[in-house]
Amino acid sequence: MIVSNRLPVDHVSGEGGTAEWRTSPGGLVAALEPVMRQRDGVWIGWPGLADQEFEPFEADGIDLIPVPLSAAEVEDYYEGFSNDTLWPLYHDVISPPSFHREWWEAYQRVNRRFADAALAVAAPNAIVWVHDYQLQLVPKMLRDARPDLIIGFFNHIPFPAYGIYSQLPWRRQIVDGLLGADVVGFQRVADGGNFARAVRRLRGYETRGNIISVPIDDAAAAIDGAAADADEPTAEAPMRHRSVGRRGHAIRTVLARPFPISIDAQEYQRLAADPSIRARAAEIREELGNPRVVMLGVDRLDYTKGIRHRMKAFGELLHDGAVSAEDVVLVQVASPSRERVDAYAQLRDEVEVMVSRINGDFSELGHPAIHYLHQGYPREEMVALYLAADIMLVTALRDGMNLVAKEYVASRTDQDGVLILSEFAGASDELRQALLVNPHDIDGLKAAIVQAMEMPRRERMRRMRTLRKRVLTHDVQRWSATFLDALTREDHHDPANRLD
Ligand code: G6P
Repeated sequence: MIVSNRLPVDHVSGEGGTAEWRTSPGGLVAALEPVMRQRDGVWIGWPGLADQEFEPFEADGIDLIPVPLSAAEVEDYYEGFSNDTLWPLYHDVISPPSFHREWWEAYQRVNRRFADAALAVAAPNAIVWVHDYQLQLVPKMLRDARPDLIIGFFNHIPFPAYGIYSQLPWRRQIVDGLLGADVVGFQRVADGGNFARAVRRLRGYETRGNIISVPIDDAAAAIDGAAADADEPTAEAPMRHRSVGRRGHAIRTVLARPFPISIDAQEYQRLAADPSIRARAAEIREELGNPRVVMLGVDRLDYTKGIRHRMKAFGELLHDGAVSAEDVVLVQVASPSRERVDAYAQLRDEVEVMVSRINGDFSELGHPAIHYLHQGYPREEMVALYLAADIMLVTALRDGMNLVAKEYVASRTDQDGVLILSEFAGASDELRQALLVNPHDIDGLKAAIVQAMEMPRRERMRRMRTLRKRVLTHDVQRWSATFLDALTREDHHDPANRLD
């Protein structure tokens, strides 16, 4: 079972009162959807609309169980605690987080609802895989109610350094919530290290390598015992990952380690080979006026993505005369996101003022410097854009992974194209052949853009070949298989079996 805030499809109302289901935004759904398509199981999540109840249904071969949210809960749990407290806090306070007790109340209540929805359908010893920062209390809620369950948690976004995490007034409750899982997965080595440090500082539990020893208190043990007596199929389950700690009390072990997420690389390769998509890529270049260089940015319109930084660098290159709008264009796809959260509304204004200024100052008739698209597009159009782009700009200030970087690489079956990639995106741990940049260093960013524009074809292809090898061998199927293998093996607490 998958439990995530969003279902893979959103219920959206169209023109004239019509309604339809549309693919949900963001990296989480992009990564999990192909995984679930290949497996049996259910997906529990919110259908993206307030005050609407839906019966369980099937979409594209996946069984979905919708969890309803009221308008007040969308405000307090989703826009509030998830996206105005946790999101900015976990992304290194790029935007200041807000702390409100009513939001925390709603977060607990909604986490309980997701946990109850999972408990209502979980078979004995079921595997429940909980996802992302919106649902960090769910693992403990599941464990307290049903110790027979095998519980995994994956955090798609960064886990911050302790000095930042410790600002959270409910920092202990969140750590306890996560420690309800058997395996807690992170994107980067640093995220797992930050979590282990938070556990040591806030709870004093022993951590050795990737293994955290969590004492089992008497009350929890009593519940375990009762469950074992009462329910035949669960009789052995409470013993999972349990042993006696150094101080002589009962402990269970939690594995906390990185599992860098990826994409369905084969699917992007397949689309990139499709003649109609290749034709569309050529058409895009033509529509742009056949410039010498097409640069591309693709992001949710989010302040973590460094959209302003890349525009500043491009604007300065135009100002310096290093490039001209006739020669080089920037296409920026910025898909609408979390529009009712103030920081997002403000960012939209800032980006749009910047686009207008740069276009006003540097465009030539028929040649706008920046093509700004505040829209989402189907995957086919995205692959055509990737194929049309000579340079892909991923300049996130902080990003758990950034799947756009991997999508670009997987789509370049022609082995061409240059990826400029922020070292603050998780993807930079793996994609070392990209041009790695610090997006705060505008001069460095400008130099990387110039280097990309001037890079000889042989070097571009050499780098792209290495990048592609990495993405094609480390795809999302391998990611989920690795996570589920770690989750279901009985011996992860044994130091000899550590998966470092
Ligand atoms: C990121 C998060 C996901 C989230 C997605 C879209 O990828 O890790 O959990 O679903 O952004 O954001 P939204 O708020 O629209 O769900």
